[in-house]
Amino acid sequence: MRKPIIAGNWKLNKTVSEAVKFVSELKEKVGGISDVDIIVCPPFTAVSKVADVLRGSNIRVGAQDAYWEEEGAFTGEISPLMVKEAGCSYVILGHSERRAMFGDTNNTVNKKLKAVLNAGLTPIVCVGEKLEEREKGITKDIVKDHIQGSLHGLKKEEMSEVVIAYEPVWAIGTGKTATPEQAQEVHAYIRELLADLFGGGVAESVRIQYGGSIKPDNIKNLMSQKDIDGGLVGGASLKVDSFEKLVKYREG
Ligand code: PGA
Repeated sequence: MRKPIIAGNWKLNKTVSEAVKFVSELKEKVGGISDVDIIVCPPFTAVSKVADVLRGSNIRVGAQDAYWEEEGAFTGEISPLMVKEAGCSYVILGHSERRAMFGDTNNTVNKKLKAVLNAGLTPIVCVGEKLEEREKGITKDIVKDHIQGSLHGLKKEEMSEVVIAYEPVWAIGTGKTATPEQAQEVHAYIRELLADLFGGGVAESVRIQYGGSIKPDNIKNLMSQKDIDGGLVGGASLKVDSFEKLVKYREG
């Protein structure tokens, strides 16, 4: 059985004090939950303070990116070891916003992925097609390219540590969610690709999150699909009430 995993991707939102207030409240509301992995991914500046508040709780902290080098002349970058020491156990990699605006490619995502795994952190690797690609009927080609390119050269045992997030770009921040059936079709395809690359056992154990306009009122249907194991949530993760509802999706 794959344990559901709900992660809040805060993007460029929340100062340190806002972040601390948020997680202090969230901890009270979801403290008793042990059957869902709960993760918050603040901006780098807030990671350390957020991790202090959450130490000993059931909520884990993730970074929104990390560079592949451990140290050196790389102005503006942060290494996996740095985010680990600051309190992260997860790192989001290859988010479509980073691919579109900050030059991330399958190749750089792959390098980051290996560095993140080396540091003993759990990567969340994002893949997904743009609207024009879906309209052209090449969704599966794009997803295959992202999966094969981003995961290139990984060993089976490394792949077991990876979480995949399928995020159709046209659904991110747009209010247009993929239907549960549309999402399931791609999730099942990703699992097939993983089976080809890493074997059926690994493919069955890897968790695949859906992301793109997840809201408290659509998460339950998405989560009811066979191959959807969680959510990577932007907008609806920014308010405590709505993130609480997402984490407690079974009650909705
Ligand atoms: P959204 O973002 O929930 O605001 O659509 C999801 C994401 O970008 O991870």
